[in-house]
Parts: sequence; C-alpha cells; structure tokens
Amino acid sequence: MKITYLGHSAFLIEGDKIKALIDPFIKGNPDCTSEVEDLNDITHIFVTHGHSDHLGDTIEIAKNNNAQVICNFEIGLYLSQRGVKVHTMHIGGKYNFGFGSVKMTPALHGSGIDEEDGNVICGGNACGFLIQVDNKKIYHAGDTGLTMDMMLLKDENIDVAILPIGGNYTMDVNDAVKASEFINAKNIIPMHYNTFAVIKADVHDFAQQVKNSKVHILQHGEIFE
Ligand code: NI
Ligand code: MN
Repeated sequence: MKITYLGHSAFLIEGDKIKALIDPFIKGNPDCTSEVEDLNDITHIFVTHGHSDHLGDTIEIAKNNNAQVICNFEIGLYLSQRGVKVHTMHIGGKYNFGFGSVKMTPALHGSGIDEEDGNVICGGNACGFLIQVDNKKIYHAGDTGLTMDMMLLKDENIDVAILPIGGNYTMDVNDAVKASEFINAKNIIPMHYNTFAVIKADVHDFAQQVKNSKVHILQHGEIFE
C-alpha cells in the first residue's frame, strides 16, 4: 500500500487491486504538482464533500479513466447526471468492495456544490472514509471539526489517519492534536493547511505535540509506504 500526497486534501492510494484518488483538487490547487492528464489507470475516486477544493476535477478524471466515484447519495446523483459511474453510501455505512471494505464516517462540515453560475446544489452531508487496502486501514477525515465521534475510531486500529489541521474551516493544530489522541492511529499525515492564507498552520508544532502516533509531514508528490 502506497500513499502519495497531491497537496491540500488530495491523495493517491495504490494497493494490489486499487489505484484511487481522494478529493482530487488538481487544477485549481496552487501547490499541486500533478496534472489531470498524468493521473492514469485510476479505478476509484473518493469524494468527502461537495466543496470545490474537494470535488475538484472528479468529473474529468472519472470520465478519462472510467473510474467509479465513491461518495454520498446526493453527490452521487449530481455526478451520475453528468455521466459519471458512482457507488453511493451514507454516514455509518460499510461496504465490501473488491479491494477491501470502505466505511463512511461522519464529518462536521458543509457539502454544498458551488456551480460556476453561482448556484449552490445540495451535496448532502460531508463525510470521511475508513478505507481498507491490502489489510491496512486508512482514515481520511475529510474537512471536519473535532468531534467526540472520533473516539470510536480507536477500536478500528487505524494504520494511517489523514487529518486536517489548518483551522478556520476545519480543526486547527490544537484540535487535531486532540483528534490524534482520540483516534490513536499508528501514523498520521496532516492535510488541509497552508494552501490558502486563511488556513495557515504550523505543521511542525502539530508534529511535536502528537505523542502516541508517528507524524509524517509529506511534501507535495511525496510518498508514504
Ligand atoms: Ni470543505
Ligand atoms: Mn476544504
């Protein structure tokens, strides 16, 4: 199992039977070094919520690769109306895919889909994902504030927890440290910071404060194995 950071909340996850993207915000992402055209043989795309820095280039990449998008029911409707193959789930639901199981976890956040004409389409509830790949468990929290629900994740024996730390829209460093204590994952990868001025965060301060998990600060394009 291999995780590549594409900047902001976007990750590429590769396993024996899967090559998946999570929240593929590529084109508008000021720090992303990848191009949409370089993302080939993608089998699945996970979308945590409808905001443009997460839904990103999902439609184009899904169509280019004939990939299946795993998302909530409302975003699934929006995408299938635009010709994208989807598998919809909802909060608390778990499903066994060919590559492993996926559980949709709660996130404390919005999910409106902002259209270019200024309209906002209902994107259901924001979520996170607990994804099993090659018998490793990855938790991508999506955009979320700190919740007591995260304590339940301790029982999941998570190998890698990917958490937002940038504040303003999500947990800041201090809340993400608390989340790390709740979740007790073996490894943590921080995300959703420094992309924009309003989510500036000291990632080294975060790494220093986390005691029970190993924190991996990934640069864009960097791989965690
Ligand atoms: Ni958001
Ligand atoms: Mn966001």
